[in-house]
Amino acid sequence: MGRRVTVYEVGPRDGLQNEAAAVATGDKLALVAALAGAGLSRIEATSFVSPRWIPQLADGADVVAGLPSVPGVSYVVLVPNAKGLDRLVEALGRAGAGHPPVAAAVFLSASETHNRKNLNRTPDETLRDLESLVPAARGMGLDVRGYVSTVWGCPYEGAVDPARAASIVERLLALGCHQVSLGDTIGVGNPEQTRRILERLLRVARPDQLALHMHDTRGTALANVLAGLDAGITTFDASIGGLGGCPYAPGASGNLATEDLVYMLHGMGYETGIDWTKLIAAGALAERLVGRRLPGKALQAELAR
Ligand code: HMG
Ligand code: MG
Repeated sequence: MGRRVTVYEVGPRDGLQNEAAAVATGDKLALVAALAGAGLSRIEATSFVSPRWIPQLADGADVVAGLPSVPGVSYVVLVPNAKGLDRLVEALGRAGAGHPPVAAAVFLSASETHNRKNLNRTPDETLRDLESLVPAARGMGLDVRGYVSTVWGCPYEGAVDPARAASIVERLLALGCHQVSLGDTIGVGNPEQTRRILERLLRVARPDQLALHMHDTRGTALANVLAGLDAGITTFDASIGGLGGCPYAPGASGNLATEDLVYMLHGMGYETGIDWTKLIAAGALAERLVGRRLPGKALQAELAR
């Protein structure tokens, strides 16, 4: 049996939060269904952030209500604060029994300025908020994933000391997050740096407690994934077609494209549970929904055949 890797799909959240095109709720749900049908078992479906900050995901409650039940598939919703968690709990309450499993994800940045731009708080203030939010969510039976952004570099401050990410990861795990995803929010990383960052981070977390969330702005995302695989990481975030970015990080282009990641992993003999043909069909659907060619290279190669 091959080695198993989890591909964590962020397109419906990280991708669509940054698209100019208005995508109807029903179309978002069609994309989620296509991804789930292709074998993506963890799908970040939407966020409950301020609709004034991210109008693209203002329909989060309707997305949660319509999530398809697919065996083996669970969903994640990004929440920034207690109000976001309240909205998630209310949406799940309305959806009732028989609804597919949904977890929460929380986020903050290793750098001060990006955290202020993204959450209107210092990282310490956000951590203090999370000190009550994460245990509250766990107490309600929700799994919680953490994100640390700008680990490889900050669009406002430049280089970021990995020790800052390490202390945040330690806190998030102690609060009850089951996994923390390390973000190269603006896609500046290289494999040597990834090795150094993981060497530091693996002093405070097991490999299965970490995920890599690489943006492909400068074409180094897959090289960084390879460094992550070498360090024992088994969860990698990716976005269908390479949709997305971070609206509060200038220059952040799309996440690593799911198809580029899966193409490399399957070629290397890793098992992902993902059906290649259905994945490409989901990528083609994502292109139709946003009305533009997406940057994923493997997607474009397949569509040109
Ligand atoms: P704020 O303005 O400081 O909020 O924003 P506030 O607490 O002062 O409240 C102001 C108003 O917003 C109030 O309404 C609140 O009720 C409302 P008013 O009384 O004026 O009518 N409000 C909310 N409404 C709905 N849902 C909520 C919520 N919270 C407050 N949850 C806030 C602070 C956190 C809300 C804002 O900064 C925000 O929404 N930020 C999110 C930005 C975002 O979504 N960024 C992208 C996601 S992170 C990312 O992409 C990176 C990642 O992919 C990893 C990586 O790539 O590195 C995860
Ligand atoms: Mg991101």
